Amino acid sequence: MNDMTALPIALFDSGVGGLTVLKALRQCLPHEDLLYLGDTARLPYGTKGPETIVRYTLLAARMLVGRGAKMLVVACNTATAAALPTLQEALAPLPVLGVVEPGARAAAAASRNGEIVVIATEATISGGAYQQAIVRIRPEAQVRGRACTLFVPMAEEGLMHGPLAEGLAHHYLDDIFNPALTAPRPDTLLLGCTHFPLLQTALQNVVGPQVHIVDSAATTAACVSERLAQTNLLRPADRPGTSHFMTTDNRARFVRTGSLFLGERLHNADVELVDL
Ligand code: DGL
Repeated sequence: MNDMTALPIALFDSGVGGLTVLKALRQCLPHEDLLYLGDTARLPYGTKGPETIVRYTLLAARMLVGRGAKMLVVACNTATAAALPTLQEALAPLPVLGVVEPGARAAAAASRNGEIVVIATEATISGGAYQQAIVRIRPEAQVRGRACTLFVPMAEEGLMHGPLAEGLAHHYLDDIFNPALTAPRPDTLLLGCTHFPLLQTALQNVVGPQVHIVDSAATTAACVSERLAQTNLLRPADRPGTSHFMTTDNRARFVRTGSLFLGERLHNADVELVDL
């Protein structure tokens, strides 16, 4: 094993949402060590302007890779959409991967009729990164973006199912998915925010069973795996991988909401409080 293969993969998100990506990475690469930072002190990023998001993201990424990492995964759609090229340049030659391109690829592949709806934070939708990435891959696609700001706190509150979640989904999506109002009807809904996979059942109930719902977690994990293999950076399969968690504020809340996103119980001792 060379020195680089032994290093962890660093993951960054504005909060706990990126744990959906960490979970997919664990499944895809069970022998890799993972170092996760959630910048909960500055959450949400999704309602901030692009310069602020770039500034926060650089700060967090530098701190995280300063711990030693062989790759950085920007497990936050808002940070990827606003800051990926800046990060890649600032941290070169470290490989830096985001979630937008993998998500766009998954949506372009899933859609039969090319009518795709992306839901994400206000910053991600207004920057147009997903819309542009999908059209680059599938030029005839018709892509509509919709900012769904309130899904972020809903998911963190654990309000993923039932009338509140479905009511909010109706509020945001009825004008696009109601068959009486639109034609042709979108057949694919891309979850362009790390929080939204938790609302998948409620969303499916609202948009109907014929709509494919895709997110970027699994395709991002596959891209990471591919890149590690290409660059000979895969860790040998000599022991199970470990996960280390860091947060910039309120460890108890990270533990509580993080457990929801990870689908397993986190404990205070698992999470390190850090300052940037
Ligand atoms: N992690 C963010 C994203 O994926 C959502 C939360 C936020 O607004 O910071 O876009």
